[in-house]
Amino acid sequence: MLEGRIVNLRPQELTDAATMQRWVNDTEVTATLGNRYMWSLAAEEEHLRQRAPKRPSFEEQLFAIKTKEGRHIGNLGLHEITAENRGCDLGIVIGEKDCWSQGYGTDAIVTALRFAFSELNLRRVELHAYADNERGIACYRKCGFVEEARSRQFAFRNGVWRVGVQMGVLRPEFEALHGLKLKEATA
Ligand SMILES: CC(C)(COP(=O)(O)OP(=O)(O)OC[C@H]1O[C@@H](n2cnc3c(N)ncnc32)[C@H](O)[C@@H]1OP(=O)(O)O)[C@@H](O)C(=O)NCCC(=O)NCCS
Repeated sequence: MLEGRIVNLRPQELTDAATMQRWVNDTEVTATLGNRYMWSLAAEEEHLRQRAPKRPSFEEQLFAIKTKEGRHIGNLGLHEITAENRGCDLGIVIGEKDCWSQGYGTDAIVTALRFAFSELNLRRVELHAYADNERGIACYRKCGFVEEARSRQFAFRNGVWRVGVQMGVLRPEFEALHGLKLKEATA
């Protein structure tokens, strides 16, 4: 378990499928995400089964975001981790809408970035958001991400072409903002 200030990051379990299916079928939650399809419980269970590595691996890190009281409120993933470039893509959803704008997303991302930089030895983490996802972008800025590029007609959602924003954070920038809590070896 990775311990944040107000959330913990735990592995995703097959028993999370029903909760995740509720989020992925909630159009208010998915309005700022890539997903546009309705998911059956069987599809969600299969998705979880397929993505669960036989044993923990470097290439992809999938977490359930839990409050300190143990409520599963969202998911976070570090995807396409490459050793050569020491980078990855971050994705996040806080699926429980009553938990939006309370600092959970920021704490989950800061916790995942600490892990990415101090355990996986990554150098750069990037993410993609719709330019009108103001809450998301405000959250990412607090974590240390800066805007790097914009893509026109990035995605067609709800009848509208959406502009995409790519944001990235480099390890020294994150360290200056949040610290990595690295301990000096004494021997
Ligand atoms: C985007 C998301 C991960 C952010 O997590 P969160 O827990 O809601 O975010 P936080 O509370 O940590 O930070 C959000 C910040 O944006 C602010 N905010 C909220 N609405 C805003 C708006 N319309 N404009 C500007 N800022 C806004 C909040 O006040 C907060 O800032 P503060 O702490 O300085 O007050 C979460 O809202 C979510 O999962 N939304 C639905 C799915 C999604 O968009 N996923 C990301 C796709 S890229």
